[in-house]
Amino acid sequence: MKKYRVGILGATGMVGQRFIQLLEHHPQFEVSAVAASDRSQGKTYGEACSWRLTGEMPPAVRSLPVQPPASPLDCDLVFSSLPGDIARETEGSFAAAGYPVISNSSAYRMDEDVPLLIPEVNHQHLDLLARQRQQNTSGGFIVTNPNCSTIMLVLALAPLHAAFGISAVAATTLQALSGAGYPGVASLDILDNVLPYIGGEEEKIESETKKILGHYVDQRIEPAPMAVSAQCHRVNVMDGHMAAVRVKLERKAELHDLREALASFYSLPQELGLHSAPPVPIVVREEQDRPQPKLDRDAGNGMTITVGRLREDTVLDYRFVVLSHNTIRGAAGAAILNAELLVALGHWTG
Ligand SMILES: NC(=O)c1ccc[n+]([C@@H]2O[C@H](COP(=O)([O-])OP(=O)(O)OC[C@H]3O[C@@H](n4cnc5c(N)ncnc54)[C@H](OP(=O)(O)O)[C@@H]3O)[C@@H](O)[C@H]2O)c1
Repeated sequence: MKKYRVGILGATGMVGQRFIQLLEHHPQFEVSAVAASDRSQGKTYGEACSWRLTGEMPPAVRSLPVQPPASPLDCDLVFSSLPGDIARETEGSFAAAGYPVISNSSAYRMDEDVPLLIPEVNHQHLDLLARQRQQNTSGGFIVTNPNCSTIMLVLALAPLHAAFGISAVAATTLQALSGAGYPGVASLDILDNVLPYIGGEEEKIESETKKILGHYVDQRIEPAPMAVSAQCHRVNVMDGHMAAVRVKLERKAELHDLREALASFYSLPQELGLHSAPPVPIVVREEQDRPQPKLDRDAGNGMTITVGRLREDTVLDYRFVVLSHNTIRGAAGAAILNAELLVALGHWTG
């Protein structure tokens, strides 16, 4: 299998470290360059990065020099986990210089010609790349993954929307601390506490959900015509975002129909056998007290989402709880799966 050299922008952060960890033994991608802020530049990755994940920092990256996030970078493809405020200019300049940019940040997610990709849900949206290629003939382009809470929400909604149509969804999230990056929320603010505000998060979930579930028509995405309402909370959990979700369906369905649609969900990444694709994208649990972050975030190596508490609802039609690993399925793992899909479908040949 051909190996591509990848650069990681924001390599020292929470998501950057996940990239490094998940790419350690990857069959197609090997880390050849790392970039971060001027705080880290000029040091080796081993010196600059305060490793926060369980297990050791992979030996192969320890001696890589941390560079500024600017081209030229010694790699074929760029994974970006830069903060949103600097991502727009930086990612745009890499794409203009001919690099494929697979981004976690929110900077380009809602741009009309940028795929906001969940490989199991909207791989057809990759056709938007033709539009980017009309504007940018360097060979570079940008593909983004959604917000970490949007990914798990939309993965759970997609099979229900396909089978019964969803006209309205209300989601209340309980989001882990690692979602705020490092060092994130001050311990004195979150111990013994829940914070009912995460800047920009509710708007992202509401707009991104409609784009991902929308249709590709005439080189643009027609957003799904559903009402989406999100309320977001930061909770004292290390990893694993959760959401309590209520849905209103367009067509009548029984509880067992919903359970079957979720549990049997299977899509292109599974058919293609992509390296990071979980064999089962959605696990449906029947226990009354699942999903839980501590017990369920590592399902499918962090790439499977878990749905539980599926019941009829007294206000909308049905309700459930969904959970996923925010830095794996919600960030680095999602971006790596996006890159695997691009290669498998021939959208990028290196
Ligand atoms: N955490 C999650 O669960 C999650 C999920 C989905 C998406 N995201 C998105 O992913 C991105 C990274 O999040 P994170 O949680 O990994 O944040 P983080 O832990 O704060 O890491 C930020 C990274 O960006 C680098 N950086 C900061 N300012 C920079 C600058 N001016 N120039 C170059 N590099 C700079 C940092 O380098 P230094 O170490 O040198 O400061 C670090 O490598 C954000 O856009 C976030 O919204 C995060």
